[in-house]
Amino acid sequence: MMLETPRLILRPFTTEDLDRMAELMANKDFMRFSMGPLTREQTQAFLDKVIGWDRDGLPSQFAMIFRSSGALGGYCGFFHHEVDGKMEIEIGYRLDSNFWNRGLTTEAARAVRDHGFRDLKLDYVISLIHPENIPSRRVAEKNGMTLERETTFRGFRTFVFSITRQRWLERFS
Ligand SMILES: CC(C)(COP(=O)(O)OP(=O)(O)OC[C@H]1O[C@@H](n2cnc3c(N)ncnc32)[C@H](O)[C@@H]1OP(=O)(O)O)[C@@H](O)C(=O)NCCC(=O)NCCS
Repeated sequence: MMLETPRLILRPFTTEDLDRMAELMANKDFMRFSMGPLTREQTQAFLDKVIGWDRDGLPSQFAMIFRSSGALGGYCGFFHHEVDGKMEIEIGYRLDSNFWNRGLTTEAARAVRDHGFRDLKLDYVISLIHPENIPSRRVAEKNGMTLERETTFRGFRTFVFSITRQRWLERFS
C-alpha cells in the first residue's frame, strides 16, 4: 500500500533502503528523543522488523519520499508497543533535520492516520512523546490527537497522545 500527499509519497520499506536509513539513523538529530544513534546492524534490524509487519499484513511504517527529489527523508507510520500492559498501535515519525518545520511530517502523519482508520479500521491510535519534545507534540496535535495521560515508557516519562476512531469519524472522515 502506498499513500500520497501533496509533497510526499509514503511507500513500504524495502531491503534496498538500508544504506540511506543507516545514514539517517546514525544521525543524532534524526534520533533525538530516543536511545541515540543506531549502528548499521541496528538499522538492519529496524528494517527487518517493519518489512516483516508488511509481509504479515500488520500496520507498519512507511518511507517518506520527497516528490521533488525522490529522496528518502525519514519514516512515518505505525509501531506496535506494549504500554501499561496493553498492546497499542502508535503513529511514530522521524525526519531528516534539513527538512524540519515545513509541515512535512504533519502531512505524512495525517495520511497515516486516515489510512489507519479508513483502510485498516483501527479503533484507537496513540503517539508516545517525551514531554520536552515540542515539535513532536505539535505534530500530534495537528494530527487531531489530544494528550490523554502521562506514563512511564522504557523508563522515561512519556506523554500518551491519542485519537479514537469515533473522534476521527466526527472530525476528519
Ligand atoms: C518531530 C519531527 C518528526 C517533526 O517533523 P517536522 O516535519 O519538522 O514537523 P512539522 O513541520 O509538521 O511540525 C513541527 C511543528 O513544531 C513546531 N516547532 C518546532 N520547533 C519548535 C520549538 N522549539 N518551539 C515551538 N514549536 C516548535 C513547528 O513550528 C511546527 O508547528 P506549527 O506548524 O504549529 O508551526 C522532527 O522534529 C524530528 O524528526 N525530530 C527528531 C525525531 C523525533 O523527535 N521524533 C518523534 C519521536 S516521538
